[in-house]
Amino acid sequence: MAKKIESAYKKRVDGRAFDELRPIKAKVGVIPSADGSAMYQSGKTRAIAVVRGPRTLHPKHMENPQRGVLRVTYQMMAFSVWDRIKPGTSRRSQEIGKVSEWALGEIVDLDAFPNSVVDVIIQIPQADAGTRVAGINAAVMALAQAGVPMKEMISAIAVGKMDKTLVVDVNKEEEDFEEGEGPTDVPIAITSKSNEIALLQLDGKMSIPELKELIKMAKVACKKINDIQTKALKEPGKEITG
Ligand code: CDP
Repeated sequence: MAKKIESAYKKRVDGRAFDELRPIKAKVGVIPSADGSAMYQSGKTRAIAVVRGPRTLHPKHMENPQRGVLRVTYQMMAFSVWDRIKPGTSRRSQEIGKVSEWALGEIVDLDAFPNSVVDVIIQIPQADAGTRVAGINAAVMALAQAGVPMKEMISAIAVGKMDKTLVVDVNKEEEDFEEGEGPTDVPIAITSKSNEIALLQLDGKMSIPELKELIKMAKVACKKINDIQTKALKEPGKEITG
């Protein structure tokens, strides 16, 4: 029998099982003027992604005749959290834009659009933790709707450790849990076919077995998210829940 681990985090603040996702909503085609667009919501965290392109890259000297450029920007809206978010970029928004770009760069077939750029704009109207993973989930649906060639899809989830308890889909109240070893938040993105890790960030402490277990939990959650993304792509304009 597995050894029981004593942890200060015994019950989730919102009553979910430790491996349970927040309710999901997903919709493709939310901004009609865009080449591709999508909304992905997990609990109170909502992300909208818009894709423009492939289109000519300016300035011209940045063009690459070998492969295209993927450019991702991320921003939280002023009213997305209780304290107003200052308009414009911040170190945090730039970091999230870059890590989202690297994750999506794993699947987008850049060779298919030389000399061109695909812009992915991620906006967060409502934030309750896990905005970067919600943004990636929305972005990949928007890219697919725009017809940007991709080798496979990506789904993303924030898993974590509250004191010694491993949990799936961390919300903001959990991110602020300070007892025992405190909270560790681990955003992970998994590719849909090759089942590879396209993003993994970790700010905190954990053992290798704990991290391996969290990756397993993330892969199960990402399968469920991928099902919802796939359904949303088959029925643009319809909100899919799960
Ligand atoms: O959102 P994500 O978990 O990907 O990134 P984070 O930097 O770990 O932020 C966690 C949460 O803190 C966000 O989702 C927001 O709910 C909140 N936050 C905030 O209230 N004010 C900020 N300036 C930044 C984040």
